[in-house]
Amino acid sequence: MHQLLRLLPLLASIAAAAAQGGQTCNATKLCPATAPCCSEYGFCGTGDFCLGGCNPLSSFSLDSCMPEPVCQSANHTFADFSRILSNATYFGGNATEYDWVVNQGNIINTNSSGGELEMLLTQANMGTRLSSTRYVHYGQITTRLKTGRWGGVVTAFITMSDIKDEIDWEFPGTQTTQGQTNFFWQGVIPQTTAGTTIDNLTDTFANYHDYTFDWQPDTLTWLIDGSPVRTLTRASVTDNTTGISRYPSTPSRIELSIWPAGINSSALGTIEWAGGLIDWNNTDYIQNGHFSALVKSVSVQCNDPAAPGAGVTSYVYGKNTTAFTPSIAFSNATTINGAPMGLAGAALQAGWAAALAAALALLGSALA
Ligand SMILES: *[C@@H]1O[C@H](CO)[C@@H](O)[C@H](O)[C@H]1NC(C)=O
Ligand SMILES: *[C@@H]1O[C@H](CO)[C@@H](O)[C@H](O)[C@H]1NC(C)=O
Ligand SMILES: *[C@@H]1O[C@H](CO)[C@@H](O)[C@H](O)[C@H]1NC(C)=O
Ligand SMILES: *[C@@H]1O[C@H](CO)[C@@H](O)[C@H](O)[C@H]1NC(C)=O
Ligand SMILES: *[C@@H]1O[C@H](CO)[C@@H](O)[C@H](O)[C@H]1NC(C)=O
Ligand SMILES: *[C@@H]1O[C@H](CO)[C@@H](O)[C@H](O)[C@H]1NC(C)=O
Ligand SMILES: *[C@@H]1O[C@H](CO)[C@@H](O)[C@H](O)[C@H]1NC(C)=O
Ligand SMILES: *[C@@H]1O[C@H](CO)[C@@H](O)[C@H](O)[C@H]1NC(C)=O
Ligand SMILES: *[C@@H]1O[C@H](CO)[C@@H](O)[C@H](O)[C@H]1NC(C)=O
Ligand SMILES: *[C@@H]1O[C@H](CO)[C@@H](O)[C@H](O)[C@H]1NC(C)=O
Ligand SMILES: *[C@@H]1O[C@H](CO)[C@@H](O)[C@H](O)[C@H]1NC(C)=O
Repeated sequence: MHQLLRLLPLLASIAAAAAQGGQTCNATKLCPATAPCCSEYGFCGTGDFCLGGCNPLSSFSLDSCMPEPVCQSANHTFADFSRILSNATYFGGNATEYDWVVNQGNIINTNSSGGELEMLLTQANMGTRLSSTRYVHYGQITTRLKTGRWGGVVTAFITMSDIKDEIDWEFPGTQTTQGQTNFFWQGVIPQTTAGTTIDNLTDTFANYHDYTFDWQPDTLTWLIDGSPVRTLTRASVTDNTTGISRYPSTPSRIELSIWPAGINSSALGTIEWAGGLIDWNNTDYIQNGHFSALVKSVSVQCNDPAAPGAGVTSYVYGKNTTAFTPSIAFSNATTINGAPMGLAGAALQAGWAAALAAALALLGSALA
């Protein structure tokens, strides 16, 4: 379901893309030198387009995107939101200043039991997504969360690289005794789904569980409350003839979200998977004014293939190691570009219609 998740902040991306001419990009249509960075939504630009999610393989050159902030082991909790930037558009790339940015939607702090991050889904915001400012290039990541519930509401904890290697925990809101695992390599949607379902959890809405990715160079294990429930080996997804490995292997951001999969613009299969259309007249929704998911903590234990030396700040992409697999190197270059502010104001003026058309085309092809 990653292609939908990617399109969550459609309106924000249209506005920002319009500001910069709305040119689209992909691996065969790279960005021009004048707007060199291909954003995670597939539009060319400068400034914040070059930060988190900027796709090096679709940008003007491999080094057009800003270097990606290097992994740092940490136990993130949410007693307050001082480490969260509430609008990713204003992020300038300083991962020392913020651990998380809000790409879309709204968050509140329950501040019960020391504070929890509550991600809201409303008919107006169309879901909430946060991304970590730092990347993980192998490591163990555990999120303690309570999922949302009701038909059409999906909660997700995933890792996503800038070339769309992805590892998932997903929770459709009618299945509150299940967790679903999945992974994708470079955004390719396989003929047969690689997803699995883990059953018989105690209610995921009512109870906190620890959901873990133990992502190592040769094995990827999904765990619940510390118990392994699925393991994928690199060997099992490596083509022994061509040497091409379809194993997630590029630095990834951690993403937390709640999103409305059950809306009538979703593909039928998506709506079914999500447990039907969202009922905006649901009593919970009317009483609370939102659907929501709660995040108690996120812990990150980095396990880079080599230890970063002194002065290392970031990861950068380089030439392929094997076909289709770019090399990843440490760098001591800055990750900060101080992205320009106030993009949306300009956005509303120039190129809205062109960008809207481009975004709808993108949506159409992603749902096809
Ligand atoms: C890349 O974009 C171009 C122009 O929009 C389009 O013609 C082409 O099909 C796209 N390629 C892929 C692989 O999506
Ligand atoms: C995170 O918490 C675990 C468990 O208490 C601890 O072992 C680990 O050292 C902590 N990590 C950091 C970076 O503080
Ligand atoms: C949550 O409560 C703690 C302790 O009372 C307080 O220090 C903190 O500022 C509160 N956070 C928010 C977001 O209200
Ligand atoms: C990045 O943020 C940290 C913490 O707020 C601050 O000390 C540092 O000066 C900032 N770096 C730059 C280059 O602005
Ligand atoms: C972030 O700010 C931009 C520009 O002001 C605005 O268009 C966008 O809606 C904001 N996003 C969120 C999630 O508030
Ligand atoms: C889940 O529980 C049901 C009912 O008790 C049982 O039939 C089923 O085998 C269990 N599934 C797993 C994977 O343990
Ligand atoms: C490739 O070879 C390894 C080692 O023999 C084996 O474990 C793996 O299953 C093979 N990969 C595939 C996709 O068949
Ligand atoms: C889709 O949902 C929107 C918002 O709830 C509603 O206005 C619209 O009429 C619906 N369209 C169809 C075809 O059901
Ligand atoms: C939701 O409630 C409103 C007001 O009672 C009503 O007009 C509307 O038809 C209801 N929508 C659905 C989908 O039941
Ligand atoms: C950054 O890396 C370059 C090349 O490896 C090295 O020459 C330089 O001394 C490093 N600078 C710092 C500040 O570590
Ligand atoms: C990586 O390999 C693929 C397949 O051979 C090729 O199309 C692509 O241009 C290469 N990219 C880089 C950055 O070397």
